[in-house]
Amino acid sequence: MKRIQTQVGIIGAGPAGLTLAHWLKQKGISSVIVELRSREYVEGRVRAGLLEQNTVDILNELGMGARMQKEGMVHDGVYLSFDQERVHIPFAELTGGRQITIYGQQEVVKDLTDAWLQAGEQLYFEAGAHQITDIDTNCSKIHFTHNGEEGIIDCDFVAACDGFHGIGRKAIQKDSYRAYDITYPFSWLGILANVAPSTDELIYSYHQNGFALHSLRSDTVSRLYIQVDNDDHIDNWSDDRIWEELALRLGTKGWSLQSGPIFDKSITPMRSHMIDNLSSGRLFLAGDAAHIVPPTGGKGLNLAIADVKHLVDGLIGFYKENETQLLDNYTELALRRIWRAQDFSNFMTTLLHKQDDHGSFTYQLQKAKFDYIKMSSAYRTTIAENYVGLPFESYDY
Ligand code: APR
Ligand code: PHB
Repeated sequence: MKRIQTQVGIIGAGPAGLTLAHWLKQKGISSVIVELRSREYVEGRVRAGLLEQNTVDILNELGMGARMQKEGMVHDGVYLSFDQERVHIPFAELTGGRQITIYGQQEVVKDLTDAWLQAGEQLYFEAGAHQITDIDTNCSKIHFTHNGEEGIIDCDFVAACDGFHGIGRKAIQKDSYRAYDITYPFSWLGILANVAPSTDELIYSYHQNGFALHSLRSDTVSRLYIQVDNDDHIDNWSDDRIWEELALRLGTKGWSLQSGPIFDKSITPMRSHMIDNLSSGRLFLAGDAAHIVPPTGGKGLNLAIADVKHLVDGLIGFYKENETQLLDNYTELALRRIWRAQDFSNFMTTLLHKQDDHGSFTYQLQKAKFDYIKMSSAYRTTIAENYVGLPFESYDY
């Protein structure tokens, strides 16, 4: 039986778990991470890649931003397109200089993992946590299995950063929260392709065939998505068919999409999930363990990092100032930002996806919103400030 002692036991080495570990270390608080999957699996998992200003600032402050600053692509705006008409939302101009950075989530995970292991810190891969106990005492326990051997982390606090399918959420009493779920009636087919992006900023597009998004990863790699039905299958989508559909859905007059070899293809369902209690005794949930947002707007990773900020504030209060107010208020403080992001992600999703027949009442409402974006700089500002992420101080209401 392996026995480990630390102040904060962390389940999950995704962006939430790794950022928490680094931040605590910077504040002199110890932690150990157990991760179910192998290092290769976690670092190879293709996810979104949109970092809000807040997230970039946090990674820089943790000393984790060197490669992001070199390879990340800073964007001052975004294009929204509707029935082949495109408008530009200039973030920097509308939000006092705030921007977003495009840098793959798995690159963030690689940077954080490398730095953690190089510092000689403990992170066990292929170590699945199967039980969390004693969270109502000041010696909580994470029970895990590693290389066929049982282990226990004895800790003051448990941070469940173990994603949507983890064990953390299940350890919170069901009658202590209300759960909210939306399953959208469509999915995203995403590709990575070796081709220079055909655009300087991301393009989100409504088309009568469905939604499309042109994102990017570098000067030579593009990331694109199209809306497909939930029961569609990747085998139905040859590379040629994908490019044809993307060109059609993203197309505007005088603009054309460059295609190239596709090297990654997958379909992801779209859902929102919320619970309104993120802690129980000494157990705290952060990131996808606590909430899921649809990817339109790219909020998932950023919310995970924002949860971690609130948790770190609470743990600093506990260890350094001998007060528990911020930990006690963790759920309330984190939920403000999470609901804001749920609303914005839902707004972007319903504005830009095909939900009903082209020309239907729902379509007319979508079009009315798009026309309002064209008319009103107040509306463009609302979109811009949500897209880049409101500063943390805005939530001190
Ligand atoms: N024991 C140990 N590790 C576990 C367990 C378990 N029982 N269950 C899950 N995990 C690990 C998963 O293998 C995964 O690596 O927890 C990690 C959770 O990481 P993420 O899913 O990346 O979640 P999070 O860190 O909250 O980051 C949120 O990920 O899904 C995207 O869009 C989302 O960008 C957002 C980000
Ligand atoms: C991505 O680059 O993968 C991405 C960007 C913006 C989104 C979703 C995904 O809204």
